[in-house]
Amino acid sequence: MRIDILTIFPGMFEGPFSHSIVKRAMEKGIAGIYIHNIRDYAANKHKNVDDYVYGGSAGMVMMIQPIADCIERLKSERNYDEVIFLTPDGELFNQSAANALSLKGNIMLLCGHYKGIDERIREHYITREISVGDYVLSGGELAAAIVADSIIRLLPGVLSDETSALSDSFQDGLLSPPVYTRPAEYHGWKVPEVLLSGNDKEIKAWNYARAIERTRSRRPELLNETD
Ligand code: ADE
Repeated sequence: MRIDILTIFPGMFEGPFSHSIVKRAMEKGIAGIYIHNIRDYAANKHKNVDDYVYGGSAGMVMMIQPIADCIERLKSERNYDEVIFLTPDGELFNQSAANALSLKGNIMLLCGHYKGIDERIREHYITREISVGDYVLSGGELAAAIVADSIIRLLPGVLSDETSALSDSFQDGLLSPPVYTRPAEYHGWKVPEVLLSGNDKEIKAWNYARAIERTRSRRPELLNETD
């Protein structure tokens, strides 16, 4: 899978993609992430990427030309399944959206800044708008990193059996049960007996019951229970 990210702050992606699972996915050639500096496409002599809002309100808006040229260039090289704009007024991102996007071949993620991007970009190029939560970030970069990370870890061959995405919180609509590792007792705090029993069936049942319990107490809306 290929993910192209369009940003005015390419340096913000040096951290998130150079560690752990995403780094491994890229090294294995399962995922390719390509960062494009929108400023490189600015045709004006000062390389400006923003301008005043028409109509007089305060703040700056990202200009149409550099973004349009960057998108056009990429689209001339390959087809994109989605051109996604990260914005707090987009659809709320969740695990099922990540699952669906992980089945695509090429996606573009456009990161906004300031008061937003010229609306004509949204009208003519954007196929989907995504928010990572009901709060406002300084720009779309952190949101794009979240979306890319959540998609890439789902690609076949990225996770080993022991880190399988199938046991993630949300993958079965439930939060994950608590987990423990050695020692079995620390300062008198004990690991639940059943987890040391070696009885697979009882362990599975315990894990499921804890997952239900945790989901009911923290995120009851995920259970869709009517009573
Ligand atoms: N840009 C700023 N805030 C955002 C959010 N919550 N989700 C996606 N993009 C954003």
